[in-house]
Amino acid sequence: MTSATKQTADIAIIGGSGLYQMADLTNKRRVKVETPFGEPSDDIVLGELTGTTVAFLARHGQGHKFMPSEVPYRANIYALKTLGVRYIISVSAVGSLQENLKPLDMVVPNQMIDMTKQRVSSFFGDGAVAHVSMADPLCPAMSEVLTRSYDKANIADGRCHSKATYVCIEGPQFSTRAESQWYRQMNADIIGMTNMPEAKLARETSIAYATLALVTDFDSWHPTEEAVSADYAIQNLMKNADNAQQVIKEAVALLASEQPKSIAHTALAQALVTPIEAMS
Ligand code: ADE
Repeated sequence: MTSATKQTADIAIIGGSGLYQMADLTNKRRVKVETPFGEPSDDIVLGELTGTTVAFLARHGQGHKFMPSEVPYRANIYALKTLGVRYIISVSAVGSLQENLKPLDMVVPNQMIDMTKQRVSSFFGDGAVAHVSMADPLCPAMSEVLTRSYDKANIADGRCHSKATYVCIEGPQFSTRAESQWYRQMNADIIGMTNMPEAKLARETSIAYATLALVTDFDSWHPTEEAVSADYAIQNLMKNADNAQQVIKEAVALLASEQPKSIAHTALAQALVTPIEAMS
């Protein structure tokens, strides 16, 4: 099968707010994937980017219809696994909790804090138990590729930062000023609403997962900057989402040629507690 007709992909992009499609994707074909967890957020779009077949999924669905709490995270990750995906680039809008991380900057975090409250965050249960390591929740090898890709893309606005901590809140409301200060005391650097449980579920399926976070606002801790509103965040997001596509193109080319080994690819090897023969 030539790459032009492939119905599988090694690399997936999950596009968050502001990134509902990849402009440079060619030979697009929409794929409906059934999963035991229901339908994914949208059809998955397979296409070619710089000569490599990739899968694109709009996290919030067509017309941005799913709130962060409503995104079918398990169906999304399961569907990508079904298509053969081994690397997920997660693109996500975030607020900044630090003075030096400014709107239009990008961040490749290496740590996460999960403050979500009402999301199913495992594929296990119902007779099968596994405890995967989440010590390093984002794939270090892929994150390194993302920062290199940013440098190659020559983005005119902002800067790229790495080794940051992403705190994931339930939303859909933004944080109070007191909460925002509290997350700063936890040493969180950026705040978003969607990368958990995505990162946990990707790890449970042995898919390498890394985040390209697009800074849109200063959340609500800052003494002089305006507290975040959806209008404010969306204005910055539109500029940042175009830049993100350039970075993604570089990252896809590097991932395809280098095929980095990931800690995620062997994550299940030491994680299963229930003996395989006991699982139905
Ligand atoms: N996404 C973009 N800005 C955000 C913020 N300040 N809090 C949570 N999610 C966000």
